[in-house]
Amino acid sequence: MENKPLVVGNWKATKTIEETIDWVKKAKRGLEEAKKADIVLCAPFTSLPFLVSLFQDTNVKVGAQDVSKFKKGAYTGEVTVEMLDGLVSHCIVGHSERRKYFGETDDNVIEKVKLLLEFKITPILCVSDLNQLNSYIDRGKEIIENYDKIVFVYEPPNAISGGDAYRPDNPEDASKNAGLIGEKLGKKVVMLYGGSINSENVVSFFSKPNIDGGLVGQASTYPDEFVRIFDSIKLIGPK
Ligand code: PGA
Repeated sequence: MENKPLVVGNWKATKTIEETIDWVKKAKRGLEEAKKADIVLCAPFTSLPFLVSLFQDTNVKVGAQDVSKFKKGAYTGEVTVEMLDGLVSHCIVGHSERRKYFGETDDNVIEKVKLLLEFKITPILCVSDLNQLNSYIDRGKEIIENYDKIVFVYEPPNAISGGDAYRPDNPEDASKNAGLIGEKLGKKVVMLYGGSINSENVVSFFSKPNIDGGLVGQASTYPDEFVRIFDSIKLIGPK
C-alpha cells in the first residue's frame, strides 16, 4: 500500500455520553499507538464534543454521520454544516441506512456534499453501486471536480452487518467493484470498502487493489475489537 489505509469507524445510533467516555478510556491508548493507519471516528452528534476534547492533539480525527441539507433556518431538529464547522474534520453522507429509513435521495446527498465542501469538511460519500455513482455525477459536477477532497466508500447494502452477524462481501468482488467506481471517476480517488469489516477479515480487504481502507460499523462499537483491527493492519505488506 503506498499510503496508509484509512479506517473510518461508524458508531451509528449507539453510545450514550457515558458509554462514549468509557469507550475512549478503553481504546485511546491502542488507537494512539496505531501508526500504520489513519483513523476517523464518526459518532452521534451528542458524542462529538466529548470525542473532540478526549482525542485533542492525537492521531484520531472525529467525524459526523450526517448533516442537514439546509445551511441554517427554521428546520427543527436539523444539525447544520455551520454547527459542525470547527468541530469535525469529516462527515459521512448518503449512507444506505439514511436512504432506507429516512428517505434520503440522491439530490439530498449532492446538496450535503456541496455544503461540506464549502466548509472544508471532508465528505465520506457512500456509493452502493455504479448506478448510484452515475446518478450522483448526473446531479452534480462537484463530485468529479472535487474528487481529491472526497473520500468514497463502496458499500453494498447487503454486506452491512445485521444484528450480531457479519456478512462481508467477497474481497475479490469488493476490489473489482471498487475499481469500477474508481475508473468511472477517472482519477486516483481514495476508495474505501464498507460492510462487515472486523479484525479477522480486514487484511483480506485492505490487501486488495482499489481498496484504500474501510468504513467499519459494528466492529467499531467494541473498543477492543476496533483496536484489534489496527493490530491486523500491521500485517499488511506492500501491494
Ligand atoms: P458494518 O457497517 O461494519 O456493521 O457492516 C458498516 C456501515 O454501515 O458503515
